Amino acid sequence: MADNDSRAGKRYDDPAIRGYLDKLHAAHDPGLERAFTTPQQNPDIPAIMLSPSEAKMVELLVRMHGSQKVVEVGTLVGYSALRIAAAIGPAGKLWTIEYDPKHAEIARANIAAGGHGDRVEVLVGKGVDVLATLEGHGPFDAVFIDADKESYHLYGAWATRNLRRGGLIIADNAYVFGNLLGDTAAGRSVKQLHEDVATHYDSVCIPTPDGVLIGIKK
Ligand SMILES: C[S@@+](CC[C@H](N)C(=O)[O-])C[C@H]1O[C@@H](n2cnc3c(N)ncnc32)[C@H](O)[C@@H]1O
Repeated sequence: MADNDSRAGKRYDDPAIRGYLDKLHAAHDPGLERAFTTPQQNPDIPAIMLSPSEAKMVELLVRMHGSQKVVEVGTLVGYSALRIAAAIGPAGKLWTIEYDPKHAEIARANIAAGGHGDRVEVLVGKGVDVLATLEGHGPFDAVFIDADKESYHLYGAWATRNLRRGGLIIADNAYVFGNLLGDTAAGRSVKQLHEDVATHYDSVCIPTPDGVLIGIKK
């Protein structure tokens, strides 16, 4: 149920509740822990991966959907990739794209240490350029977008062209850190993504701290 306070924007979680639930529902095996804590070992790596519960949500969405061929834009050091790899199983394949070669190198090591090097390919380059090289592997079952916000509309258009009917799109930072309705390049791009997804998918934006957009292609 919603009440008047939550309809007005009040949220009932806090760091203690989130920490408890992350541990209870989204605990890390050693591979996930290694990827999640990479920024603590390496100050050059920003701690901008999904939260544990968000990453587990992506894993469950991909698993419930039965996706086998998945594309991720924005690898960082492989934390969400490990969750997606677990969901697709040994017969699945994840292509994950990362612009920064240093991130990609660490991601490859984390994904191998997590036991999923066989089913994950880390590709280095700009999302739009690398996506164009993947079209021959399509149609895909799912696309997860979590990279530069200014390109979200381009990633969404690529997903719509290259997902099968019934394919799953997921995009993090769907509120653009509060700038979704602002006149910025990132705000315009993500707003365009929302409007394209609302047209071509059965969709919803889940109210996580920065919003997660999900849709099933019509
Ligand atoms: C938020 S992080 C991804 C986090 C990852 N999905 C996770 O939860 O573990 C975004 C990543 O996108 C990468 N990135 C930024 N611009 C990019 C671009 N144009 N193409 C591909 N990757 C890009 C950044 O280097 C960064 O590693």
